[in-house]
Amino acid sequence: MNKQLALVTGGIGGLGTEICRQLAKSGKRVIAADLGSRSDRVSEFLDEVSEFSDDISFEPLDVSSFEECTTSLKAITDKHGPISILVNAAGITRDTSLRKMSERQWSDVITVNLDGVFNTCRALVDGMTERGFGRIVNISSVNGQTGQFGQTNYSAAKAGMHGFTMALAREVARKGVTVNSVSPGYCETALVMAVPQAVREQIVANIPVGRLGKPKEIARVVDFLCADDSGFITGANIPVNGGYFMDF
Ligand code: CAA
Repeated sequence: MNKQLALVTGGIGGLGTEICRQLAKSGKRVIAADLGSRSDRVSEFLDEVSEFSDDISFEPLDVSSFEECTTSLKAITDKHGPISILVNAAGITRDTSLRKMSERQWSDVITVNLDGVFNTCRALVDGMTERGFGRIVNISSVNGQTGQFGQTNYSAAKAGMHGFTMALAREVARKGVTVNSVSPGYCETALVMAVPQAVREQIVANIPVGRLGKPKEIARVVDFLCADDSGFITGANIPVNGGYFMDF
């Protein structure tokens, strides 16, 4: 049987790399889609996942451009085959308090983190519904659930991402396509390491598990949601945050 094909945006990033690896371990072919301009990081990434070199490949994609997503995702599909799993893990931060935030810092974050999800889903969801199977996982954030000082842009995008998840989940539920969010807490990624050390230590002190999360602890949940037999979970948000934010 042909292996299912997954596309992971932000695929060479901190969480993206582990998500690609985990999906390949579960028997999927995986395309890591990320900015082509990160050429040094692309070769590092390919080394890091060399164990799965038959199943993981890289394709350049800028999720912030609707036109590029439309044309590149069509070209990627023509080259590799139909995509049945989409993980939206592309994300950036431009942290600063609202009174200092430029329009650019606002729009950069909204365009990549939220518009990017629309752009990829818009390009790929018809193929999934036509074939009667699909798995979409959007990587949101605990900071979309709680808000975070210095992140009006990021928190808005990440909360918006889950609203999008719930709405699209309803639209495609009858067609075998599930749409879910995963909301990581603070993990060992470059994004989190960019937070000033004193602030970061204060945050870790408030994580009941007492440490940062590991990217593979997020990837494990993504992989679970992408499984064939996870078809009754849709429109859900799965928090993976070491107890930093608990609700019901
Ligand atoms: N809570 C309360 N008050 C704070 C504060 C905080 N966390 N941080 C700063 N302040 C106060 C300052 O003491 C200062 O007070 P005064 O005006 O009385 O002096 C005021 O707020 C303004 O402070 P700054 O001028 O320093 O604010 P700033 O615009 O430079 O921004 C910041 C500060 C860089 C945003 C800093 O607060 C910060 O790094 N916060 C953490 C951001 C964060 O957690 N980002 C997560 C990135 S990782 C990620 O996003 C992944 C994921 O999904 C989890």
